[in-house]
Amino acid sequence: MYILQAENITKVYGGKFEINSNNALNGITLNIEEGEFTAIMGPSGSGKTTLLNILSGIDEPTLGKIKIMGRDITNFTRDDMAIFRRDNLGIISQDFDLLDDLTLEENAILPLFMRDDVDEEGMSDKVKELFQFFNIWEQKDKYPYNVSGGQQQRAAACRALITNPKIIMADEPTGNLDSKASTKFMKYMQMINENKNSTIIMVTHDSYAASFCKRVLFIKDGKMYTEIYRKEGKKDFFNRILDCLAIIGGEADEI
Ligand SMILES: Nc1ncnc2c1ncn2[C@@H]1O[C@H](COP(=O)(O)OP(=O)(O)OP(=O)(O)O)[C@@H](O)[C@H]1O
Ligand SMILES: [Mg+2]
Repeated sequence: MYILQAENITKVYGGKFEINSNNALNGITLNIEEGEFTAIMGPSGSGKTTLLNILSGIDEPTLGKIKIMGRDITNFTRDDMAIFRRDNLGIISQDFDLLDDLTLEENAILPLFMRDDVDEEGMSDKVKELFQFFNIWEQKDKYPYNVSGGQQQRAAACRALITNPKIIMADEPTGNLDSKASTKFMKYMQMINENKNSTIIMVTHDSYAASFCKRVLFIKDGKMYTEIYRKEGKKDFFNRILDCLAIIGGEADEI
């Protein structure tokens, strides 16, 4: 059974109902099985963030349908969506979305406070484990504007991971990380994918990060362009990803 099914997702910004090639998304159909580890790649402006925001219910499609765990999220009210997201999804957005008035640690534990079944002891162990793993434990009492972009990004990752979500949706989660932190993050993703069967959907422009995934979807001009599955080792898969990016076009630094 698919954990996520998206059918004919179309997005026209601005509310104008005009179907043309300038739409942010043009009829994307996508099925994700439980336990998949998928990267979404494509040039800047190709619609990756728009797609992820629609899959996570943050934004609404102009046309199309999304089912997650068999439930049609396009019919949810805002409140239903917020609860569904809280209970099932871990979202890391491209611009982190940390709250300025809370410390990094307070930001990271926020999703637990929104639950009824909060176990305070387990909570502090979990936040410590994550912060130590991602090397931001020393920054835990600082506010977002007093730490680096990479530290904010890791705190946002901890906030998304703290609830052990069934599905993780991450938009450029390694975009602000150096190669060491980026490798560590991807190894963590791989570990929870293998050990906890977490389903991961990750937008990235980084071919190395994508090479950890089992499947890479390429989008261009708001359409599905092609997809590849990993059958080989990470290094050969990395080369195959580069080949696809070369075919899809766009400047290397745009991807
Ligand atoms: N809020 C908005 N209002 C109008 N147009 C938008 C809005 N957000 C995105 N767009 C447009 O939709 C298209 C897709 O944008 P999107 O942010 O999804 O691209 P992306 O693939 O995530 O790019 P990047 O790699 O730069 O993050 C772009 O042409 C963009 O200009
Ligand atoms: Mg984006």
